[in-house]
Amino acid sequence: MRDLLKALDALESEATAALGGADEAALESLRVRFLGRRGALTSILRGLPELPPESRPVVGQRANAVKAAIEGALEARRAALTAAARVGLAADRLDITLPGRPPMLGGLHPLTATLQDILEIFAHLGFAVAEGPEVELDYYNFEALNIPKDHPARDMQDTFYISDEVLLRTHTSPVQVRVMEAQPPPVRVVVPGKVYRRDADVTHSPMFHQVEGLLVDEGVTFADLKGTLTAFVRLFFGEATRLRFRPSFFPFTEPSAEVDISCVICRGAGCRVCSESGWLEILGSGMVDPEVFRFVGYDSERFTGFAFGMGVERIAMLRYGIDDIRLFFENDLRFLEQFHAA
Ligand code: PHE
Repeated sequence: MRDLLKALDALESEATAALGGADEAALESLRVRFLGRRGALTSILRGLPELPPESRPVVGQRANAVKAAIEGALEARRAALTAAARVGLAADRLDITLPGRPPMLGGLHPLTATLQDILEIFAHLGFAVAEGPEVELDYYNFEALNIPKDHPARDMQDTFYISDEVLLRTHTSPVQVRVMEAQPPPVRVVVPGKVYRRDADVTHSPMFHQVEGLLVDEGVTFADLKGTLTAFVRLFFGEATRLRFRPSFFPFTEPSAEVDISCVICRGAGCRVCSESGWLEILGSGMVDPEVFRFVGYDSERFTGFAFGMGVERIAMLRYGIDDIRLFFENDLRFLEQFHAA
């Protein structure tokens, strides 16, 4: 009897110790181990029939007490684990009534938005869109635009040469020649695209965008050039914008004019953006030089035309009040996100 009571004591202290530190997964196997049909308690009680009959109730009572203690420890541990799990759940509880996090939406790059607006206006004025290669022949970029090899105008455009005859186009004007080679008049196109010059500072990027315009037909005059560009400027910058056509020179137009608009920042009063002049230069233009018509085989006795070219970055900078061209190409979200509503 003594041995059995000792074994029961040992079982009780072993079981309560083991259960005290058990995790959820261990609980059931511990229950089987201590209280199961082939468990520790059963195997101790197997010695009961050997005892004298008067001792059996003593051991039996003790065995019941040990069983109850183990069951109590099991229950207590289970309850403790459940409570701990509840605390954990409460800590990362999900409040499904809170508004969701909206997915981040992309938006148009300010240059894309500006380019689209420019092209849309010219679409309304009846201009089709044409494109040409960025890797261009010297012939189209210069020669056929009346800029021969030794012409000083070549110095104006710091060219990236690939070979003697192949280069990165320095302007979109070579597409004028390609379009005219490909079709007889009338022509009415705008040409968006990337151009390249060896130049880099706050207002110059080695790659930038231009929109070229070309209109050729019978009876086209400088008045048509002025009317078209005036309509464009008023639609793009607003009805109150004033224009100034300033005599200029390009080898492929004659006469040539640069177009200034009244400063979009100070409305002409004079400020830092317009260098106190009240005016901003936005594009180059002119009547197509008969020499260019000769290169493409157009009859310059019968047809006349005008052309213009504008820088998209410059127009976007004026429109949004941006003072550093490099911001367009750094893809900094803090910059780009400011245009999402625009
Ligand atoms: N190609 C000229 C430039 O890049 C702009 C221009 C285009 C001028 C068409 C006149 C006519 O500076």
